[in-house]
Order: sequence, then structure tokens, then C-alpha cells
Amino acid sequence: MKKIKIKKGILSILPLFCLLFNGGCNINVNLNVNNTPRLKWWQKTIAYEIYVKSFKDSDGDGIGDLNGITSELDHLKDMGVGAIWLTPCYVSPQADNGYDIADYYNIDPAYGTMEDMDRLIDEAGKRDIRIVMDLVFNHTSDQNEWFLKSRSSKDNDKSDWYIWADPKEDGSAPTNWRSIFGGSAWEYDENRGQYYLHTFLPQQPDLNWANPEVREELCNIAKFWIDKGVGGFRMDAITYIKKPAVFKDGTPDAEDGLAGIHSITANTDGILDYLHEFRSSVQDGNDIFTVGEANGVTSEDLDKWVGKNGVFDMVFSFELVNIDLPDENNWCVTRDWDLKKFKSFFSENLLSADSADGWFPVFLENHDQPRSINHFMPDDGERIAKAKALSVLLLTMRGTPFIMQGEELGFENVDWSSITDYNDISTKNHYEFLLGEGYSEEEAMAGIRRFSRDSSRTPMQWDDSENAGFTTGTPWLPVYPDYKEFNCAVERKDPDSVLNCYIELSKLRREHSELTEGDYKDILPDDENIFAFTRTKDDSKAIILINFTSNEVSYDGGLTEGATCIFSTTPKEQRGHLAPYGAVIYEM
Ligand code: NOJ
Repeated sequence: MKKIKIKKGILSILPLFCLLFNGGCNINVNLNVNNTPRLKWWQKTIAYEIYVKSFKDSDGDGIGDLNGITSELDHLKDMGVGAIWLTPCYVSPQADNGYDIADYYNIDPAYGTMEDMDRLIDEAGKRDIRIVMDLVFNHTSDQNEWFLKSRSSKDNDKSDWYIWADPKEDGSAPTNWRSIFGGSAWEYDENRGQYYLHTFLPQQPDLNWANPEVREELCNIAKFWIDKGVGGFRMDAITYIKKPAVFKDGTPDAEDGLAGIHSITANTDGILDYLHEFRSSVQDGNDIFTVGEANGVTSEDLDKWVGKNGVFDMVFSFELVNIDLPDENNWCVTRDWDLKKFKSFFSENLLSADSADGWFPVFLENHDQPRSINHFMPDDGERIAKAKALSVLLLTMRGTPFIMQGEELGFENVDWSSITDYNDISTKNHYEFLLGEGYSEEEAMAGIRRFSRDSSRTPMQWDDSENAGFTTGTPWLPVYPDYKEFNCAVERKDPDSVLNCYIELSKLRREHSELTEGDYKDILPDDENIFAFTRTKDDSKAIILINFTSNEVSYDGGLTEGATCIFSTTPKEQRGHLAPYGAVIYEM
């Protein structure tokens, strides 16, 4: 089959065209990988995100660490994981759990030493697993020596490494921008008599990428880690690095009179020039992959971000995780969505990535998001069945799956009653913001329980001993009370567990190459209950059917005629029917 080249402008109207003239959403029917050169290692593997602070504590201080990770590598190997994305473990005052970096060349003592890191890279390598570092390059910690110097005067060699601006005439902040974590995005510095910009916390001052020295140093950091043998980078908050040429007030979007910074500084013109420079300096010629955290990049922009003309190998889009959240600034305002919309996200992004010769990272959770069974599944019905249904989606979709730690055990959102139970600074700030907007405590807490980042950060549950085997000390964040039932040791022994479902699916993915390399086609785009798609490579075709409801549902049995069932989340697969949250895979 020939690969169709699609012009940029056509991308946005193509789904509509397909709908009108193709009798359904069959949009990538002609986009196949048969002409694609052999897939690279990171396209064929499964990636796993480790929230370092919560994975495994080896020294009893209640905080996860690198040696803890090394001790549990076999758990990941069993799931076919080939890349581990580590959340930042560099030296940091931990104002935002490591996303505020004071020294990019050293490991935070709470997490271990550089020798521990070398050993982790080495031990992972023995199991064909590569370590992926989180590069937080939009900002540093305010304790980074670059910033300490920058704020010390207006004329030192780092004075222009951050975004400094004079006050307005009345002495107030240069603009009315609201930081992503709430409050003004500007902080006044007495010493310089100026404000500095922080897209996130005041303890996270934004770097000035317009300064070539800054860009050069950031490339040096990446090269340092490549020399250590890491397999890639996740690029944090990367769409915010280029600031607008002129700083001016935005239209206030809430009672606080501020304008959310995202709509003003995300993905501004010229950003790709910086990133092309980064790509050619750091990545070209090295066998690593990059995945950008790209809030503000939509399926229509993908051809500029990934693939042969792009700047990264993959980007994490926010369209799916924000399917129910029209405005990330306000967790009390949600919107309805349906399965058709959910499915169209995959069709559109795969089409876009494929047509740019790019690749797609499949993820349903990460450390900033709610747990997927709460996020994407109805409230009723059985938790284990829901977790398994989503695992089938994650591990059979075209692209590189990213599993969030705990997702493979069926973790759900925390259900804490008071804001004081929460740890995440953005959650606490958001709560204050909601009260300021006039919401009651009860309403604000409902938003917090739904979207707080703490849900995906509770300690990993290894067994049913005290603290779930995470630590012998006091865990930095409470272990979730369901750990006696949902933990690695118990689930490993239970053939019907969520964990064994992940292990089995990952094996299937390795054994049936169409599940890794095959084309994707949504075969029931209009069905409101079932997500059904095929993955086709040469003569092999897998048909995947997932019931997203708590009811038994039926489909046209002809769809799977002549095919053999190779996997089912329920014991008795019955052709033409799916059990509540049941998922099956057929192969022809
Ligand atoms: C995105 C990260 O995923 C999040 O955890 C962090 O708080 C912000 N960027 C700031 O670095």
C-alpha cells in the first residue's frame, strides 16, 4: 500500500472528509507502516513512568530512591518495559517535588548518589531497559546557583539568564499573568528592583532561552546524561520556553483579575527554532528518544513537532487528558464527553503523527493526572474490570505505551476528606483559588478529589506488609488503604489480577508484531459503548473490542468472523457480545 503524503492545511479537514465520503471514520486506512523502515527500539518497547519519590524506599527515610528502583527492576522486566522515565531526581529543594532543579549534574541526596545512578543505568541495561531522564528546562529552582547569581545584580554574567522585567509605573507586576500554579506569574526581587517571571511556582524562575549561553548550557546538560548512557529525555513544560516579544496584559479570565499564562506564552512563534537547534546539537546521531510535554500542541500542529520535520520523536498531547476539563485553571468546571470524542482523539493524533512520519506516545495517566479508571470510566461497575479494559487499550493501541506506576495494579484516585490531607502544592493553591472564586469548601473539595495530582503519587504497593512494603519508615505521602488487596505480591499470585493482565498483554504485544507495528483503524467510530479497532500488518490483523460501559453490549459478530480469540479479560468470551467492561482481542 502506498503512503499518502498529506499537506498541512488538509489535516484539519481530513476527518470531516472521511466522515462524509467514507461512511465512517476510517481516516488512516491508507496510512500504513509497511513502507516505514524498521521501527526503532523505543517504538517497539513499553515505557514506564516512575515517580521516584513514591516507588521504593531502600533506606527507611520514607522517600523512594534510586537503589529502591534498582531492587525492583525485575517487576518492570516482567511487563516488557524497555524504557523507564524517571521523574527528576537531581539536586532540588523539592518545592515542586524535584521539578525545581538546583543542580542538573548531581543526584539529590534523598534519592542517592551518582554511583547509585550509574548502577541503576547499568542494571537496567542488563535487562534491556534504558533510563529516560526528565529535563526540566523551562525553569530552574530559585536555589540554582545560576539564579542566585542572576538575582545578585543587573550586571553579572548570569544577569540575563532569567526573565527579568521592570515594574509598571505604579510598582506593580509587569503584566497581569497568572502562573499555572496560581497567583501572579511575577515575583518582585528587592535587590534588582525588578520582577522575575515564573510560569509555575515563585521558587521556579523561568530561564531565558533567548540567551544563546542558556541554550548552550542546556545542551551540555543533555549531553552529560547521554554520556552516562541514558536512553532518552522527557522534556518538561517545553511549550513555555519561548516568551512573547512584547509583554502585555491579557484579558482577565477569573475573579482574581489575572489572565492565565498558558494562553499567552504557550507555543509562541519561533519556539521551534530553539528546539531544532536542541535537536541537532543533542539528539542527531545518538540512539536516544525524546518526548516533549506539549501542552498547547494539537493534532493539527503535530507535523511540526514530530517526525521528519519535527523537533521530538513524540509529544505528550493534553487533548485527551483534558477531555473533561475545558479550563485547566478551574477544576470545578467540567464538561461532558462521550466515547465517540474519546475515540476521535486517537484517530486524529495517529493520522497526524503517521502522516508526518512521526510516532505517538499512548498514555492514560501520569504523575499530574487522575487515575484513569476514575478519569475515563463511568463510576459504576467493577474496578478490576475497568482497569483491565483500559490496559487493553493502552497496550494494543498504535504507538509507544507509557504505563504510570500503579496503573498496572489498578490504582484509583485518593479520596481524602480535607485539603490538609493533600501534599501537592498546586492542589493546595488551586483549593485557595477556588474559594477565592466563590466556590464552597464542599464544591472546591469535589474538584480537588477529581483532579488532584496526589492521586497518582501515593506510594507504590509492593505487598501487604506495613506501608505496603514501600518503606520501613514513615511514608512521605500516606499509602492508600486498599493496599492489602491491590499490591504487587498478591496480584502476581492471582491469575485474574490487573497485573497479570498487563504481563499477558505485553507478551502478546511482543509475539504478535501487528500489535506493535500494524496500522490502526477505528472500525466502529459511531458506537457509543464499544471502542473497536484493528491493527494490521501484512497478512495479520488483530481486532480489538473494548466495552466502556457497565452493561453487557452486543456488536455485529461478522466483524470477527473467521478470527480466533487470542485474549479476553473475561473467562468466557462470547462472539458478538462483550461483558461489562469486557475486552477481547481476535486475530486473523
Ligand atoms: C510539568 C510536570 O509534569 C509537573 O509535575 C511540574 O509541576 C510542572 N511541569 C513544572 O515543572
